[in-house]
Amino acid sequence: LAAPDIRARKSSRGQGEAIVCLTAYDAPTAEILDAHCDLLLVGDSVGMVVHGLPNTVGVTLEMMILHGQAVMRGARRAMVVVDMPFGSYEGGKEIAYENCARVMKETGAQAVKLESGPTVPETIAYLVQRGIPVMGHVGLRPQAVLTDGAFKAKGRTDEERLRVLAEAEATADAGAFSIVVEGVAEGLAREITEALDVPTVGIGASAACDGQILVTHDMLGLFDWTPKFVRRYGDLKGEIDRAVAGYAADVRARRFPAEVETYFSKKTA
Ligand code: KIV
Ligand code: NA
Repeated sequence: LAAPDIRARKSSRGQGEAIVCLTAYDAPTAEILDAHCDLLLVGDSVGMVVHGLPNTVGVTLEMMILHGQAVMRGARRAMVVVDMPFGSYEGGKEIAYENCARVMKETGAQAVKLESGPTVPETIAYLVQRGIPVMGHVGLRPQAVLTDGAFKAKGRTDEERLRVLAEAEATADAGAFSIVVEGVAEGLAREITEALDVPTVGIGASAACDGQILVTHDMLGLFDWTPKFVRRYGDLKGEIDRAVAGYAADVRARRFPAEVETYFSKKTA
């Protein structure tokens, strides 16, 4: 799938199939998710969920390219979108183009995603006009955590609601093929989804969006704590913990390896 296919899903909103998205950071996981998802996002959340960073500000272009390449090796049918990290696109249109083109060339992904604050729609227009499909991202913008403060739902006051709506409209007008809406109340998510002619993909943004995305490690239950908007479909942490405890016990009791797991030299007569 590619940007025009995702874009075309808008017409079926309400009756049609919702857009199914998850994050992916490595090849084997991407291969599993690909069978079920329309879109795989190589999110800069990789910095937090894989690399253990406190937020996404420390994520580099090189990290995104490396994980993008890995995901591309596992994905077959789903569209792959790579997040542009903090500092790679805000400085100007030309720098943004250079970095986005590098990500597209070195990963082979079908699009990039930019967090779209007040100044970014202009850059998105520049990129789209030059052949780079862009997904937008409005509402709670994790890369703005150092100026905005802690991760908190957006659009709860009238002023903020109008600002987020305006940023979503400007992002769509700039040519984004779809927009992630993160951490907003249902009313605002509905307003944005109804105002735009491109599909919205929600995370912590109610059922009013055209599609949904979650951080895969969250929905698989790899962490003890997950936010309110996450539904856990698995207990990967418990699964890994049980498996490793079993291995450790077997090694300590010298039950592993057994004969079936052992190579023997050929008998010579
Ligand atoms: O980085 C990420 O995982 C994201 C999604 C949560 C939308 O941007
Ligand atoms: Na992101």
